[in-house]
Amino acid sequence: MWTCSYSVHSNNIPLTRRQHTARYNGRLLSLPPELVMDIREKIHAVSDLISIPRTAIELMSGGDSKTASQKLIHLVESDPVLTAKLLSTANSAFYGLRWEVASIQQAVLTLGVDEVNRIAMAYQLRQQIFTLDSHQKDYLAKVWKHSVVTAAVSRLIKQYIHYHSNGEEFTGGILHDFGKILLAHHFPKELDEIRSLVAGTSLTDVAAEQKILGIDHTEIGWVLASKWELPLSIAEIMRYHHSLDDVALDPVLVSIVRFADLLTEHWEFGVGERSVPVYLDDEPCWKILQKSYPDLAGMNAMDLEKPLFSIFESSREFVSMFL
Ligand SMILES: [Fe+2]
Ligand SMILES: [Fe+2]
Repeated sequence: MWTCSYSVHSNNIPLTRRQHTARYNGRLLSLPPELVMDIREKIHAVSDLISIPRTAIELMSGGDSKTASQKLIHLVESDPVLTAKLLSTANSAFYGLRWEVASIQQAVLTLGVDEVNRIAMAYQLRQQIFTLDSHQKDYLAKVWKHSVVTAAVSRLIKQYIHYHSNGEEFTGGILHDFGKILLAHHFPKELDEIRSLVAGTSLTDVAAEQKILGIDHTEIGWVLASKWELPLSIAEIMRYHHSLDDVALDPVLVSIVRFADLLTEHWEFGVGERSVPVYLDDEPCWKILQKSYPDLAGMNAMDLEKPLFSIFESSREFVSMFL
């Protein structure tokens, strides 16, 4: 049986965790045993194939920041390409710095160790995804671009509404659809069927994945997050960005990423989540944001979309550095 290894920080979480296990069990038991084993083994295989550096996870989990930041600086400096990319990113208009960042040490001092960690992790994931030997290379590139845009837009939304976070919205945006990376790599034939089903019906990607494989990319994301020991805030984004009612820890954080996710679909950086139109005003993520931020209460979702799009336009250089 799949289990979750997250530590418990909230009274709501144990119940949710039991519910997950029950759901996993129910769905897995309804599948042929050989497919269950196949999916489980492949999830473990991809999580070995693609890894998140230990230092990155330590920093995300708020570990010994001094030691971890020294390790991070060493890790980045030992890779000249990563160093160059990181410096270009730090000096891009996205951060709007008025002075030039010339070293990783300086980048850590200016942007903070957590931000440098997030940027480095995104580059490292990109390298790993793009060197996968896959029949679905085009789709992998599409998912990656969608993830980077979602991460950047999540950051813009956070800044626009003045939501306080430690930057989890960026990492969450990068990782929210990571289950699709696994589907593309290990189930290329089934993925083609899933995409045809979404294109030819009113089913969403989640529903089509359940129909064809009996598991969807959010459940796979949850298992990956658990195996990688990611913080619960990130794991919840991976698991619940399509089912916000189930969020236990931070519904606003997941709503920010989900709203960004939907905007990227609207702006044609999507992954073909569904073929029928989406009305942003009816989406649970927008309702949660409106409830949490009174300034948004009298607005339509498209009133926020317009300014965000123009800010996003000026962030394209930042996005392109990760592609
Ligand atoms: Fe998704
Ligand atoms: Fe997405």
